[in-house]
Parts: sequence; structure tokens; C-alpha cells
Amino acid sequence: MEQLANEIKESLLNEIETVKKQAELADLKAKYLGKSGRITELTKNMKDLSVEERKSVGMISNTLKNEVTELLAKKEEEINNAILNEKLNNEVIDISLPATKIPEGAPNILEKVIEEVEEVFMSMGYDVVDGPEVEEDRFNFELLNIPKGHAARDAQDTFYLSGEEILLRSQTSPVQARTMLKGEGKAPIRMICPGKTYRRDDDDATHSHQFMQIEGLLVDKDISLCDLKGTFDIIAKKLFGESCVTRFRPSYYQFTEPSVETDISCFACQGKGCSLCKNSGWITISGAGMVHPNVLRNCGYDPDEWTGFAFGFGAERCAMLKYGINDIRTFYNTDLREVKNFDRRESE
Ligand code: DAH
Repeated sequence: MEQLANEIKESLLNEIETVKKQAELADLKAKYLGKSGRITELTKNMKDLSVEERKSVGMISNTLKNEVTELLAKKEEEINNAILNEKLNNEVIDISLPATKIPEGAPNILEKVIEEVEEVFMSMGYDVVDGPEVEEDRFNFELLNIPKGHAARDAQDTFYLSGEEILLRSQTSPVQARTMLKGEGKAPIRMICPGKTYRRDDDDATHSHQFMQIEGLLVDKDISLCDLKGTFDIIAKKLFGESCVTRFRPSYYQFTEPSVETDISCFACQGKGCSLCKNSGWITISGAGMVHPNVLRNCGYDPDEWTGFAFGFGAERCAMLKYGINDIRTFYNTDLREVKNFDRRESE
């Protein structure tokens, strides 16, 4: 029996020498270790043997099996190494080949407009502040002189998150209330707050359920509409060019009194009338006004002592006008071709 085992091992050693490929090795594996492989030859007549003999045959066959398995594994490693080495030798890196271009976008133009506005206001001593997008009804409406059930709420179709108290802010104006309450009656306050706002609008070319507003608030002594007009003039000229002229039209907001709509002269036709300004020569940019005495009072400022102005405008609308973009959804899609266009528009 031992002799047979030695013979089998000998023959494997001879055969394994010539093996060069994985497929040949697999054949060899089957030939020796397979179900009807050569090692099973050893145990073929087990049933005719005595217990003692079976034991010894079992041991011999097991030892042989282990040896064969080890020899085959060693050969497999050799073959794999040879394949890898060959691959490495054949692979040459040509460093003169042009690199694969990684597609890249450009900073979102909306962000650029916001930064531009921030810079102008910061140069005039304004702070840029933040407020929560998940807001309390109190800040979004009540402190701003819009009590529950008031018709003015209808204009801002609001996403309520939990009952009647928690909502997604429908405007950045709640940051006015938050800033004044933090100011604890002290002034001056000069702040702008760019941020996301949400309304239950159907999305189309000019509406989006999520959009950016830039809120502004100034509270100090003896502030008048003239200050608001001067401030608006500066920002309009900065954004739309030195030849830009501004005007106020009377309007109504619950949290300002008086309230105005601020217009700029149409930069496309210099005020002569065109399709952009619907032949009026003017383009509306923001809502604004003098902070309502009730709002000052609600937020801890005595309206007999303090006055202020506030404004709020849509950042997308500004960017759309400035860069000739006709669909608000452009700002929010992730198509790199669109984002690339932002770069081109900027340099035009
Ligand atoms: N919050 C207003 C809106 O979303 C815009 C606005 C108007 C803000 C007048 C103001 C303001 O601060 O004074 O329609």
C-alpha cells in the first residue's frame, strides 16, 4: 500500500513539473484529488480489510492527500506569480499620453450673486447672519405683525411641519425678529441674512418650492425712507451697473409701514421699454419699508426711540436678471453642462 502511495506521489511530482497554466493545474487536481482520482485508488477495497488494516490505509491515504494538496497549492502560487510578473513586465506607462479629463463644474452663479451682495453690505458695516430654516410660527409670522388667521398669511403658502407652530420658513424676515430679540433693545442693528426659504409653489420657470431670499434690517435713531433709498441705490448700481436708476412704489406689507416696492431702471433697454421690463422701463427687485412700530415693540425696541428699515429680495430673481437666465430651476439642477455655463455667463 505504501508503495502504491509512493508511486502516486512520484507520478504527481513528474507531472507537476511540466504544468505551466492554471487550466493544466485544474486537470491535475481533478486527476489526483477528484472523486475518482488516483488517491481514491488507495481506499478502493477498504471494505474487504480488517479494522487494523483500514486504519493504516486511512492514515496513508490521508497523508498522501495532504501532501498532494500542498504540492498543488504551491504550484498554483507559482503560476499566479508568473502571470503577475508577466503582466507587470508587459505593462508600460506612457507618461506622454494626454490625461483623462475629469469633468468639473463651476461655482454656482447664485452663490456668486449672494457673495457680491454680502460684500457690499459688509463694506457698509452690516453683519451677515443666519437663521433656522425650520422655524416657529411666532418668528415667521406673529412677531412680524401677522397674527394667526390673518389674510396676509395666504400670500405665503407655508409648509407646516407639526401642527400650527413649526414650519419651514416662508421668508427670511423671521431673522429680523430673531436679531432684534438678541439685540435686547440695543442699537444700531445692521444685518443681512441670505438664506433658503420654502413655499408650497408648483415648480415652473419662475417658481420653486425652495428659493433664496436676502433679508436686510437696519435699526437706529432717526432712520428714514431716504436711508433706505440711498442704500438700495448703492446695491442696485453695484449689481446692475453705474447707470442704474432706482424708484420706490407704494406697497403693503404687514411688517413695514410705509411699505414700498423697489424698482430699478431696465438695464436691457435703459428704461425705454422692452420685453424684459414688459415695456415699463422698470424692473421690480424687492419689497421693503420702514419697520412697523408693532414689530419694533414685539421685539423689544421702543418705536418712540428707534426707527429702522427692512428689505427682502429674491436672490434667484436677481441672478436671473443679471445673467439672462430664464428658468429658476437652472440653479438647482446638477447638470454639469449647465453649471459650466455659469462660468461662461460670468465672463460675458
Ligand atoms: N418677506 C417678504 C416676502 O417674502 C419680502 C419683504 C418685504 C421683506 C418687505 C422685508 C420687507 O423685509 O420690508 O414677500
